Amino acid sequence: MGVVVIKFVRITPAHTFWLKVSLHITSLSLLCVTYYQAFTDQLGADPVKAILHFTGIGAFNLLLLSLLISPLAKYCRQGQLVTLRRPIGLYAFTYAASHFSSYLLFELQLEWPLLLSELIKRPYITVGFAALLILSLLTATSTKSIQKRMGRTWQKTHNWVYVASLLVALHYLWSVKSEIIQPIIYALVLLVLLASRKAKFLKPIKSALNKRANKRTKTQQSKKKLA
Ligand code: HEM
Repeated sequence: MGVVVIKFVRITPAHTFWLKVSLHITSLSLLCVTYYQAFTDQLGADPVKAILHFTGIGAFNLLLLSLLISPLAKYCRQGQLVTLRRPIGLYAFTYAASHFSSYLLFELQLEWPLLLSELIKRPYITVGFAALLILSLLTATSTKSIQKRMGRTWQKTHNWVYVASLLVALHYLWSVKSEIIQPIIYALVLLVLLASRKAKFLKPIKSALNKRANKRTKTQQSKKKLA
């Protein structure tokens, strides 16, 4: 239904402006309300677990939403939608950074040696940390001026968002003990979104194979000439 509406309504810069305003209000107010509830003892018996759950799932939802924008804009022929990708990506990073900070502050009580041992001992923490590092790099290079300065390498760098999202799916799957259904659903949604970009993934593989084939024919031709 939503997709049908997007297909028949022309999305203008005014629409995306209000969508961005709603995104800022919703993302920031939900984050503030959750921390307020945690500090005023309104988040149940284990507020730290509740915060980690809210920020972790929030970050993953926003990451998936940012990956949905391009295929949706292409399918509905609504180029204007693409302007939403950057703010959504920035909020995915904000939620992921809050998730990590809450873990460091409330669970580890800022004990840095403990963080180091957790990173070594628990693979799901290692994988989550790697994803956060990638998201930090993408956030740091997300401005228009840096995009201009980086030229062609900017797109290559930003393709690392696919690696980061796969690492997050793995982090989620690894972090649960028994309730495996929800992380599996998330992983499947991610795979569907990545499959919609299969041409992008296949392009470098195809060109590498073509290069190898060309090289082989050239060496065979020069061998024939020598014989
Ligand atoms: C250094 C980086 C990270 C650390 C230390 C970390 C730590 C944790 C911890 C301790 C949990 C709770 C596991 C439990 O319930 O026992 C968790 C769950 C989770 N994390 Fe992370 N995480 C990191 C990065 C990320 C990132 C970058 C994302 C997403 C973009 C993410 C998404 C999630 C999700 C979706 C869950 C499951 C939430 C739930 O169902 O309770 N994490 N993480």
